[in-house]
Amino acid sequence: MKTLREYVTDAVVKKIAIGHFNISNIEGFWATVRAARELGSLAGRDIPVIIGVSEGERSFIGVSQVKALVESYVRETGQSVFLNADHTYSFDKVREAVDAGYDAVIYDGTEQSFEDNVTITKKCVEYAKKKNKNILVEGELGFIGKSSKILSSIPAGVKISEEFLTKPEFAKKFVTETGVDLLAPAVGNIHGMLAGGKDPALNIQRIREISDAVKIPLVLHGGSGNSAEDFRMAIDAGVVIIHVNTELRVAFRNALRRTLGDNLDEIAPYKIMRPSVSAMQEVVTEKLKIFNKI
Ligand code: G3H
Ligand code: ZN
Repeated sequence: MKTLREYVTDAVVKKIAIGHFNISNIEGFWATVRAARELGSLAGRDIPVIIGVSEGERSFIGVSQVKALVESYVRETGQSVFLNADHTYSFDKVREAVDAGYDAVIYDGTEQSFEDNVTITKKCVEYAKKKNKNILVEGELGFIGKSSKILSSIPAGVKISEEFLTKPEFAKKFVTETGVDLLAPAVGNIHGMLAGGKDPALNIQRIREISDAVKIPLVLHGGSGNSAEDFRMAIDAGVVIIHVNTELRVAFRNALRRTLGDNLDEIAPYKIMRPSVSAMQEVVTEKLKIFNKI
């Protein structure tokens, strides 16, 4: 199986993006890997996916348990499934994920000063690379909110007008000084999704400028609520990985609500959860089609 770095390089060449889907439980895992497998067999090609677990998500599943799950599935099926320690707020938690054998880690220093973000991200890069030469380390520059939830307005502390987005010159300095493999900028994207299901448009021009300045692959966070056209243009401008979470959570919750309401006597968890898996799988499939140009 190719490494995640090789898939990222492929994606750059093919101008496609790898889907990154956050999970909180095994239902999310099955939804993601089944969507990739079924779409892959339909398209007659390999569709790699990244399973993302934030600090909260991985503490719920278990830091090494989710790693064991992905590893055993990959060993059994040979499918290209990778594991990312998403939004990690301290060096110690990055070290924990690196030691557990994750394929990728993100240090999220977006609430730190630029200098502190650089210092800690650099420390994470050095530690990760010493431990695992194949690991990908992502840095973040520009605050886009913190929660994958339904929003009534743009998250507090986030501004999406041009002057508040990540600036190409700072992005370049950040990447040069830290040595990250991937960069997540603020380009009009927000974590979470506005209640109407439609987030503001991305600033494609800024994505292109940052990509030209840093010359490393970009990661688009906050993918819920963005249009297919925005995704296509963002990929064309330099985005190589796209994160989606809120839309999966909504699909899970809505299906669960329906299932429980319609089957008051059902108590078997695997029967109760099945429609939620299918609902999340539909979301993942729809996104993977866009990201992989299928
Ligand atoms: O890292 C997670 C993502 O950026 C998810 O964002 O909940 O807006 O899809 P989202
Ligand atoms: Zn994110």
